[in-house]
Amino acid sequence: MTVDVHLAAGQERSLADDVHDGLTRPFKELPPKHFYDAHGSELFDLICEQPEYYPTRTELRILRTRGAELMEGVDELVELGSGATTKARILLEAGQAARYIPVDVSETVVRAAADELADLDVDVHGVVGDIERHLDRLPAPSGRRAVAFLGGTIGNFPPGSRRRFLRLIGSLLAPGDRLLLGTDLVKDPAIIEAAYNDAAGVTAEFNRNVLAVVNRELGGDFDLGAFEHVAFFDRRREWVEMRLRALEPQVVTIGALGLEVDFAHREELRTEISAKFTSERIAADLAAAGLTLRKLATDPRGWFAVTVAERA
Ligand code: SAH
Ligand code: AVI
Repeated sequence: MTVDVHLAAGQERSLADDVHDGLTRPFKELPPKHFYDAHGSELFDLICEQPEYYPTRTELRILRTRGAELMEGVDELVELGSGATTKARILLEAGQAARYIPVDVSETVVRAAADELADLDVDVHGVVGDIERHLDRLPAPSGRRAVAFLGGTIGNFPPGSRRRFLRLIGSLLAPGDRLLLGTDLVKDPAIIEAAYNDAAGVTAEFNRNVLAVVNRELGGDFDLGAFEHVAFFDRRREWVEMRLRALEPQVVTIGALGLEVDFAHREELRTEISAKFTSERIAADLAAAGLTLRKLATDPRGWFAVTVAERA
């Protein structure tokens, strides 16, 4: 296995800039990519096992039933924000791809990929990097590519950056290449809200993990017990918001930034949006990014979609 690392600990992830910028805004906000240190990646995998978190098992069902057509004619699979190799394994077993290129900010998940797929006849070339900044550093293509962006992670981008990011992905696609895009779909809000408020509290721990990352990497003194997990479906915007709400007024010090941050009682820090899609929204976002929708595969309940798109 080859692993290219384009991130070193801490600042290369843009954590310091994001924290400085996000915690000094009138409405405090941190980007979701900072959830995923080794512990955060483990917590995400645990979220996927919670009975309320339907996206993973629904998308897996689509990949299992439609994998062969999604991967037809594909020589190599690039997976952005790859996480665990469960979905890659299904796609690789369903097709003939000879190379797998997982790309993730989390070094632990990229390094685990080769071990996890050792029984397959596939060359694994991992890339540890930020998909928003390092896509120009992927290895040169060795044939027809499928670029997979699964799990609904595209929904973690706000609408404007989402279209910009899709355009960036499009710039990686040569004629004959395809994008495999996983999107969670709009459905009964009660089902969506339950998925982000699991009874075991795993999503709450995942949410608070971003504070532990700031404490460790930037010398912060966040008291994780002083923030409660909030997740709700914004029915107008059709996205989930995750926030951390201060249980009492407090001042947090971020040592490495020389920054003191005041939180008022019940003040909220937004940590993630997770947009839910309709087929019209998927097609419109793809078109705005210069991509053409070729196929949309969904599950029998219409809860999740995997779309095949090509450069227009
Ligand atoms: N694709 C998997 C994992 C989804 S969780 C699935 O479908 O289940 C989101 C993944 O994206 C995590 O592994 C996280 O580390 C990664 N990630 C989030 N933001 C990223 C970024 N900016 N650059 C690279 N990887 C990112
Ligand atoms: C990675 N991403 C698609 C997940 C989501 O559902 O938006 C992250 C997550 N946040 C809370 N639970 C899972």
